[in-house]
Amino acid sequence: MKKTLFLLITIQFLVFSSCKNESKNNNVSQQNRGFIAKKAMVVSAREEASKIGSDILKKGGNAFDAMMATEMALAVAYPYAGNLGGGGFMVYRLEDGSIGGLDYREKAPLAATKDMYLDENGDVIPNKSTVGGMAIGVPGTVSGVFKAQERFGKLDIKDVLQPVIDLARNGFIITENQQQRFSSNNDIFTKVNGKDILFGDKTNAGDNIKNIALAETLERIANNGVDEFYKGETAKKLVAFLNAKGSIITLEDLNRYEAKWREPVVFNYDDLKIISMSPPSSGGICLNQIMKMIEPFDLKDYGHNALKTIQVIVEAEKRAYADRSYYLGDPDFIDIPTETLTSDVYLQERMHNFSFDAPTPIDSISHGNIVGYESDETTHYSIIDQYGNAISVTTTLNGGYGSKLYADELGFFLNNEMDDFSSKPGVPNVYGLIGAEANSIAPEKRMLSSMTPTIVEKDGELLMSVGTPGGSTIITSVLQTILNVEEFGLTMQEAVDAPRFHNQWLPDEIRMEPGRFNKEVIQQLKDKGYTINESRSRVIGIVDGILILSNGELEGGADHRGDDTAVGF
Ligand code: DON
Repeated sequence: MKKTLFLLITIQFLVFSSCKNESKNNNVSQQNRGFIAKKAMVVSAREEASKIGSDILKKGGNAFDAMMATEMALAVAYPYAGNLGGGGFMVYRLEDGSIGGLDYREKAPLAATKDMYLDENGDVIPNKSTVGGMAIGVPGTVSGVFKAQERFGKLDIKDVLQPVIDLARNGFIITENQQQRFSSNNDIFTKVNGKDILFGDKTNAGDNIKNIALAETLERIANNGVDEFYKGETAKKLVAFLNAKGSIITLEDLNRYEAKWREPVVFNYDDLKIISMSPPSSGGICLNQIMKMIEPFDLKDYGHNALKTIQVIVEAEKRAYADRSYYLGDPDFIDIPTETLTSDVYLQERMHNFSFDAPTPIDSISHGNIVGYESDETTHYSIIDQYGNAISVTTTLNGGYGSKLYADELGFFLNNEMDDFSSKPGVPNVYGLIGAEANSIAPEKRMLSSMTPTIVEKDGELLMSVGTPGGSTIITSVLQTILNVEEFGLTMQEAVDAPRFHNQWLPDEIRMEPGRFNKEVIQQLKDKGYTINESRSRVIGIVDGILILSNGELEGGADHRGDDTAVGF
């Protein structure tokens, strides 16, 4: 335990020293705190994006102006997951307490069919839903940022996008992490694109990359508005490119795309009110289910990452993920029994066979078969503005660089979100998630997501904006971060840095970040019959969050697992 604590403290120190602090007067004790700002903050996966967002706020823009700028800046400086060719979800809470959710998830093309990823024997064709043209869903991001900015933003679009256009034109510096990812994807980039692209192994960490094609695309969007991407020159170029690469997306698909406002999922946990994303993301419902199942247990008393705490959380997670795989999908296509799934009676019943003695067998929760999975990338950012508006946004291409298909004339990667559908009942996607009819493919349907952008209130006041990438581990990472603050009294920075574990019903194992948990606790879990997997992933989630402190200042939690940075004033 001592070793873990030492590691944690060392990490806090490293993270704290690397945070950008633009605030001058800081009267909060912050030994283990992240970056503190007085009024406003943006936390994202790249310093450039956080800074551009924060500068927009300084100019008098609000969280929704900053959203557009930050999201587009991530597409420039963090092409791994930042995007124009993907989609995402946003949850907001305005300064007057009103809340909402925005769904800019990709859709299946009109020509999509239920069996499009199956061969003549009915087996899933490897890689067809993950790599190249056929993997791509109709992108939603540009529609999403416009929908949010047009409704709530204050600034002129051109002023919001200009710093991003400048970033693309003048370039951004490649980090070590980024270079490693470019290098390890070099072969697949070349294979999918048939030639070298801007991002490969020819660059080095510290080099400056200019993306002139993306600067020009963004300039056209700034001049012509959202229609430029879905109907204009950009749309036509995109469709011509996609069709040449085997995609079935048409101009009509782009014309018909529109982001949608959704009612968020809202529930209480102790004295917190949690506001999170509703379907077609599973995030809010699963988080609701898990938190309600664990609420009767005294986690504080058991201790942070202690045996009983892990057991209760894991068993609740198992049950929620089993429900996810069967009941959840696009609410425009299926009926989701949300009320029942999140009702106290149902959730108490779900936990009736829980015991501290041994794991509940997975087939007594539900059934299914599973093989391995891998982890890829998404990105999250949180913004709180000087007016008191908060947003929480998770956006993705699905896998790192999505389908790996790069539209070089336009300067961005295309998603491989089609893999989030259930290609065949019971057959897992890249995150090991299995699905059923509820998440089968249909034209214009949105694929089920795990993205969990979340806002937390305490006593009617804004407390936190939080979220993370991590595929199926998103929900459980958001959960642990909230619990770290609420139950275990960690600061925002400590809460995002703390070691994480994950269970998703199938496979039947607890995934743990390697070397970060108490060995005795791991042994005790094994003795009780749990399978522990410490080698599946180096990290679980890359959480970013903002916490409002009791003195009204903002604390950023920028996860040390990535290049994430908090900037504010
Ligand atoms: O929507 C989803 O749940 C996935 N497409 C998210 C992918 C993701 O988080 C990848 N990051 N590790």
